[in-house]
Amino acid sequence: MTTEHGRRPASPTGQEGALPPVPAEQGTRTVFPPGRQSASPLGLSEQQGRSPLAHSEQDRRPAFGSGLRLSGHGLVLREWTDDDLPVMVELFDDREVAYWTPLVTPFDLGAARNYLDKARRTRAIDQRVHLAITTDGGRAKGEALLMMRDDGTGSIGYAVGAAYRGQRLAVRAVQVMTDFAHEVAGLAQVFLEIEPDNEPSTRVARAAGFHLSDAPPNIVEDKGRTLSLLTWTHFR
Ligand SMILES: CC(C)(COP(=O)(O)OP(=O)(O)OC[C@H]1O[C@@H](n2cnc3c(N)ncnc32)[C@H](O)[C@@H]1OP(=O)(O)O)[C@@H](O)C(=O)NCCC(=O)NCCS
Repeated sequence: MTTEHGRRPASPTGQEGALPPVPAEQGTRTVFPPGRQSASPLGLSEQQGRSPLAHSEQDRRPAFGSGLRLSGHGLVLREWTDDDLPVMVELFDDREVAYWTPLVTPFDLGAARNYLDKARRTRAIDQRVHLAITTDGGRAKGEALLMMRDDGTGSIGYAVGAAYRGQRLAVRAVQVMTDFAHEVAGLAQVFLEIEPDNEPSTRVARAAGFHLSDAPPNIVEDKGRTLSLLTWTHFR
């Protein structure tokens, strides 16, 4: 797969208009959970489920406990909690999300439960970091996720609830997650995979400083559609 949300691009939602300026705050602040004060890599022996072929890369990869909290660009990206399950339904049971991302549709409470369980499982082996997009650490308005690969690269996916689109939440969340990917996770290259006709997502990529690569499109099948995904990259 590519990214849970980044697999296909976002289509127009008809919500263009004056967008609020991005706050002047620069950079991303990372708060680690209790007992973990820095991003220094943990040894492989402390981690489970690794591919034996990628030890050196994994040895360099930091392990992130639960309770990760990233702030920057006027946003707080925080962990999902069980209390968010109904909010996830509100955010993700949406036509655009269904069309442009691999999330199941309809996205009901059962789907939200499965999604959160899977996010926690994949997080436990440091493959993915799923964070709720908030402005203050409270109500979730969308999701940004980072999927780390054994080759030292990672991909970012995102979705913003229909009620919250057009506030530069996606652009800012991608900037925060990209900073985290480079500076904390130590990934040299971060990419987004976007369908060419997903105009909002393409604009997010551009505004967040990604560049369209000349890699051939990644062709994947999902929900009965053949997707042609373009790769957008950001280097450290
Ligand atoms: C794509 C998505 C995350 C954008 O979220 P958002 O918070 O509304 O985006 P932002 O407010 O940060 O806007 C980013 C850019 O998209 C543009 N945009 C937003 N909605 C748009 C629309 N409906 N049509 C065209 N452009 C749009 C904005 O004008 C802005 O462009 P600019 O920087 O050139 O001014 C959101 O539409 C979404 O969740 N879509 C469904 C899921 C999806 O497609 N995920 C991405 C998969 S690759």
